[in-house]
Parts: sequence; structure tokens; C-alpha cells
Amino acid sequence: MELSSSTSHMLLILALLILSFMLNFSSAAYNVTYDSRSLIIDGQRKLLISAAIHYPRSVPSMWPGLVQLAKEGGVDAIETYVFWNGHELSPNNYYFGGRFDLVKFCKIVQQSGLYLILRIGPFVAAEWNFGGIPVWLHYIPGTVFRTDNEPFKYYMQKFMIYIVNLMKKEKLFASQGGPIILAQVENEYGFYETAYGEGGKRYALWAARMAVSQNTGVPWIMCEQFDAPDPVIDTCNSFYCDQFKSLSPNKPKIWTENWPGWYKTFGGRDPHRPPEDVAFSVARFFQKGGSLQNYYMYHGGTNFGRTSGGPFITTSYDYNAPIDEYGLARCPKWGHLKELHRSIKLCEHALVNSEPKVLSLGPLQEADVYEDASGVCAAFISNMDDKNDKMVEFRNMSYYLPSWSVSILPDCKNVAFNTAKVGSQTSTVEMIPTDLQPSTNLPNKDLKGLQWDVFVEKAGIWADANFSINGLVDHINTTKDTTDYLWYTTSLLVDETEGFTRNGSSPILIVESKGHALHVFVNQKLQASAFGNATVSPFIFRSPISLKAGKNEIALLSMTAGLQNAGAFYEWTGAGPTQVRIEGLKNGTVNMSSYKWTNRIGLQGENLRIYDSIGLNGVNWVSTSEPPKEQPLTWYKAELNPPPGDEPIGLDMIHMGKGLAWLNGQEIGRYWPRKCSKHEECVQQCDYRGKFSPDKCSTGCGEPSQRWYHVPRSWFKPSGNVLVIFEEIGGDPTSIQFSRRKISSVCSHISEDHPSFDFEHFQKDGAGDYNNKATVSLKCQKNTQISAVKFASFGNPVGTCGSYAQGECHDPSSISIVKKVCLNKTECALELTKDNFDMELCPGSVKKLAVEVVCT
Ligand code: GAL
Repeated sequence: MELSSSTSHMLLILALLILSFMLNFSSAAYNVTYDSRSLIIDGQRKLLISAAIHYPRSVPSMWPGLVQLAKEGGVDAIETYVFWNGHELSPNNYYFGGRFDLVKFCKIVQQSGLYLILRIGPFVAAEWNFGGIPVWLHYIPGTVFRTDNEPFKYYMQKFMIYIVNLMKKEKLFASQGGPIILAQVENEYGFYETAYGEGGKRYALWAARMAVSQNTGVPWIMCEQFDAPDPVIDTCNSFYCDQFKSLSPNKPKIWTENWPGWYKTFGGRDPHRPPEDVAFSVARFFQKGGSLQNYYMYHGGTNFGRTSGGPFITTSYDYNAPIDEYGLARCPKWGHLKELHRSIKLCEHALVNSEPKVLSLGPLQEADVYEDASGVCAAFISNMDDKNDKMVEFRNMSYYLPSWSVSILPDCKNVAFNTAKVGSQTSTVEMIPTDLQPSTNLPNKDLKGLQWDVFVEKAGIWADANFSINGLVDHINTTKDTTDYLWYTTSLLVDETEGFTRNGSSPILIVESKGHALHVFVNQKLQASAFGNATVSPFIFRSPISLKAGKNEIALLSMTAGLQNAGAFYEWTGAGPTQVRIEGLKNGTVNMSSYKWTNRIGLQGENLRIYDSIGLNGVNWVSTSEPPKEQPLTWYKAELNPPPGDEPIGLDMIHMGKGLAWLNGQEIGRYWPRKCSKHEECVQQCDYRGKFSPDKCSTGCGEPSQRWYHVPRSWFKPSGNVLVIFEEIGGDPTSIQFSRRKISSVCSHISEDHPSFDFEHFQKDGAGDYNNKATVSLKCQKNTQISAVKFASFGNPVGTCGSYAQGECHDPSSISIVKKVCLNKTECALELTKDNFDMELCPGSVKKLAVEVVCT
């Protein structure tokens, strides 16, 4: 068909119009600046809530769900570090695939409509291996990290420019219409700067100037940097930042790391930070003029493979964050903070457009009132007393303030939220065990039980040695962190006249090591193990060993368990044995430290990559349905079907010793169900009141610090999944199971004097005089429904979720009404009104409703 020239002209114009509309739509640049009050986005002052989600700590298939759950939790921005050592694998050799697909992550944030805060570092700490800096950089001659040092600055700048250019190319900065509103250079350098003397000062200044010269069009931040030069904003990291002030009067108060929990170490306790205290810290921050707060972490995730720092940071980086390691909302923390965010947002206009008036309401009680010229008013009233609840008078009204709490009054009258009153639901999570199922694509699928392929490593030099040398080399300088493992072997000649060869006594072997773990083998037999970290003092292995007359092979397997990730000059921290002695020989003690030692880097199976498709058949596996148990240095391999259902999966390694695990060549990570000492301090119930510290509310004393290891669902195929385990000490592979993580029940309880603020009404007409009746809301995970009502009592029920019991006051129709409203629904809500309950019951007492339902 021929088009007339005018028609084709018109079509061309139309096409151009559509194109220009699309371009405009997708890249409407906006301006990010700041003043002393807040960031200013396109001319508007903003209060922002941000959520840290580190992209390599989950998998791309989880990213949209995590970002969405954060958005639903009421956050405005996602924050992440950039992990240099995951991206620049060797100089100029960049990787941005899989979990390290930074651009994809940024675009997912962009598509969700949230902002992004990019903490480029490139030093990050973060309990991440080597603090995020590539290990190879330590071995470039003359390099000293994080000071005025030419090679360090050269590589740091090169990486910084690389990332900034990548972001620019993808139009990801706000100035290009993208989601990035802030970028960070360095990380908490202020704590260490003086350790580096004048060089430290010069470096901090250089880093700031280098960053600013990238012309990203968005402001730069430096956290805990006490001399951040203009225009870089210095920010706060802590459990509380209400008292923080920027160095400069023209910079806003920004909180880059509010830790809603804490990280865990192998052998350590399980830290928890109560939701009431997290909410309290956030409310206090905004009460005292804060403008941007980021949860570090909002989703902690997993340190897959060997990415964890430390030493001894667990593979789980759950962090007791609002979203758990597996991607499920942790309730009530997630929900309580969601309600907090909603209340803070209602106050935004008043907060950013007026100066606060601070009223003292008691020795530890105060109100901060924000009222603008037009009369729009919001107030935060706090009770800092960590023991006593208080009744306070404010604007001729009385307010009841639980101890250590803040009430938020978006209209200076009605309480929309109190940080200590948790009204949102609690959920109980279970790990439901499922046996490993043999793959249905195997020829032997009719055989009963699972087949294991087994390969046992030789203790010591498994092929040619890497080198022999008199004395003990540093572990990290030798492996350069290409593996956790380094063998040190030597031999010892024992004279037949030694008494112990006849009388059954045993000489004692003593090894001093800088870290992190050590297994000692004599004549191919595991003798004993020890663990420790040299930043405290060298750890000492001391154990009787069995020696025979004649030549004995001594093989030390030294291991790292995550490299140091912070501290001044941290990159020089070594590892590995420094002294080896034997006591109890007839000539007394023999010092073997300067013997000739022969070293071999890594394991044979690792070297041949028998854990992935490249090398799976590189050794002679022995096939058996009865794999050996308690056998050191053993590789186990099985072909499996995926576990049923669609819940997230944890690999249960409780009956294994210590080692590494892979599924389909993907690194699950280090496993080590090392127990935390039962003599540590743990709590049954945590008192949220008073200042939090990581030790305050721990559980898990006497328990393995990590039992389950996250295996993302997306790593599974419909059949033929290859699970590979390397076990160092000895375990029982037949007890390995998958566990499905499931929200088994949800609970909610509310008292009739806990009216809920009518947010919708307030948003519509700005008046907050519409308090709804107290309401219980319950919501199951997607694709599940309320299948049973385990407990319901309106009256004075006692106990907590999972252990509720009726009190003497109880409305007998409680269960039936909850069933009527909730059964077979994904979510439901029940008001405490006379239509639903007997409000006349037990006159004179404040009644409450407690409900527990089962989701299936
Ligand atoms: C901060 C650091 C973070 C993280 C945190 C503890 O000091 O900036 O990267 O390590 O401590 O989880």
C-alpha cells in the first residue's frame, strides 16, 4: 500500500510525539538538594523512610517480592551497598551476573516507584568478606587500604567511576529520571581516621572530593564522618540517633543505619531487638527533627558461599530484620513499623514546614509540637522513663504514656500510634521437615531410599604440593582467599624407645594459630579441632594425639571462616598456625614450628570443582544407600527432587559437623551448627524498655547458632537436583533434610481501649477526630487461608501467641464469631463492638480480644 506524502508525514509526527512522550515519561529528571531540615525533592521537603536490602544477599527472583514487601511496609526508599569484591573479580575483570546484577536490582526498585540510596563505599564493612574490598588489592605491592595511598586511591577511584558511569549509562540517577537520590562514599571512616594519622585526614578529604567530582547530580553522604567537607552530608549510624546533629547547620539530620536487630556469629547467640524499641528509636528521631531514616537491615538475607565476613559471621544474615532471611514479613515487627510509618507520614507536612516547640511534660517526658502558620499541627509526646508509665497533660487533655514510648498525634490531639502498643498481628513460623526425595529422573528411581555418592579426601597433600618451606606461612597470604582451606604437613620420627609407644600414654600436640579453625590429622586420622580468632589472642589447640613408632604424618587443616571486615588496618590481619609443639616425648618438648612444612592450597574436590557441572565427574564417587557417618573429609552427593510446595526452603544440617554445601553448583555456603555456650546470658522474655544493645535480648544459649541454610526456590529444577556437601569433621548425611518455612499461625490481640485512628478520614479532610473502634486484623501468607480458629476469647484472656488461655471473664460466643468472619479467608478484621461481642460482660474491667488462627 502506498501512503500519500502528507499521511506519512503525519504518521512520522505522531510516531515522534509518542516517542518523545515515552522518553519523557520514563526519564522525567528531578532535582535532589537539601537544606538544614531535609532532602528537597523537586522543590519539596521530604521525610523519608528507607530499607536496606543487599542485592547479593538474596537472589534476583526474590528481589521484586522483597522490594514490594518493603513498599507495603511503608518505606519510600531502598538502600544498598555496592559490593566491590563481588564485581571486580581481578583487576579489570568485572562481573554483574546473577546475584550481582546491580542494574537489574536498581531497575526493580525503580519500577516499584521507590527511591534508591546507593552506598558505593567501596569499603562497606557489612559483615561481608574483607569489608567488600577485593583481596587481590591487598597483594598489589605498596597498597595500604583506606588512607592516602596511591595504589589504593587509584583502584578505588577506578571502581567508583565504573559504578557511577554504569548508573549514568542506565539513567539511574534522579538527575536523569532514575531512582537514585543519594550516594555514599566510604563508610564510617571517622572512627578510624585518626589511626591513619595525617594520611587519614587527607584520604577522607580526597574521597569526598573525588565523589563530588563525579557529577551525579545527587547529594553525597558519608556516614560517621566527623569532618565531611561541604557539600557532603555527614550521617549517623547507631541504635538511636535522636541526639545526632550534623557538623554543619545547613545539613539535614540523616540516619543511615538504624539496626533493627543484629548479626550472628557461629557459636554466638541469636540477637533480637524488640519492635517496641525499634519503633521508639524511629519515632524519637523524627520527633527530634530527623529527616531520613534507613533500617540496616530491612531484609538481611543470606551470606551465600564464602561471602560472609568476620571471622565467624554465620551464613544467615537474618539480622532479626522486619523481613526475615527467607523473605517473609517478620510479624509483629514488620506490621508495627508499617503502622509507625503511616503515622509519621501523616505528620510530614507539619514536620517539614515548622520549627518545633519543645514542652516539658515531666522529668523524662516531653512533647515536640510542630505547627505551621496555617494551624496544621502534629505532635510527638515521649516518655523516656524506662521503668514507669506516665499520665501527662497536653493541650488540656490527658495522655497515658507507657514507659519508654512515643505517641504520635498527627493533629496534636488524637493518638494515631504509640510505639509500645503493638496492635499488629504476630505470626508463628515453623520449619516443616521433609525428607530428601531421590530424583525421579534417575534410572534407579524404583529402589527404596536415596543413593549417595561418596568421595573421601586424603588428609594432607592430595596431589603435588604447592611448596615446602622451613617454618609456618601465613594462611591468607598463601591462599589469597581463593579457598577456606590450607594444608600444613610435616613428618615426625618417633623412636621405638619412646615410653608412650608401649604404655598407652599420649603425647600432647599444641598448635597456636591466628585463626580461624583447625583440624589436626595424624597418620590420616582426625585427632581434634579448635577454633578462634587472633584479633583477641592466638587460639590454642591442645590435645593428646596418637603417634606410632617410626614416621608419622602430621597434617594440619587450617581454615578461614570469613575475613576481617572492619577496623583500622584490618587487611593485615593474618590467619593460620604460628607455633607447633609436642609435649611428652622422652626429650621433653619438641618445637616443630621451624620444621620443614609442605603446604597445599585448598581441597582436591574444590580444585576439581566436583560440586558443579564442570567437575562433577572428576573423581571416582562410590555409590551407596548407606553413606558413611562420622567420617571426616568426606564429599557427599545426591540427586534429588525439589521439596513439595512453594514455601522457602532451609537445608537442615543439625546432624552434620562443619563444611560447605552446594545445590546445582550454586553455593549455599558454610554450614557449622556450632553451639553457643549454655553459660551465655539468654532471655525468655525481653523487656523492650531501656537502651538496647546487641547482648540485651538474645536467645539460643546452648543451641546451634545456625541449623537451617537458605536454599532459594529458584535454584531447584523439577528433578535431577544435585546436592553436594563437603564435610570436614564427620556427620550423618542420612539425617539431612529440607525444611519448608511456613507461617503456621497468626495471632492478634487488642484491648477495647486501643481505638484505631481513622487514617482514611484523616487523609481526606485532615481532621483526626474519627477514632474507629478497636479492631483485630489477621492476614495469612499469600495462597493460604484461615483454616481453623485455634483460640478466640473476648474478655480477659492471658498468655501470648501460641499459649493464649481464657481468663475468668470470657464471652462464650467468641470462637463462633471469629469463625464466621474469618474462616476460609486470606484476611479478616473484627471490630470490638456490640454487634460482635458482649460488651456488657464483666463491667468495670477493660476487655480484650485475643485470637489465634491457623493458615493453610
Ligand atoms: C556498621 C557498618 C555496617 C555494619 C554494621 C553492623 O558499623 O557500617 O556495614 O557492619 O555496623 O551490622
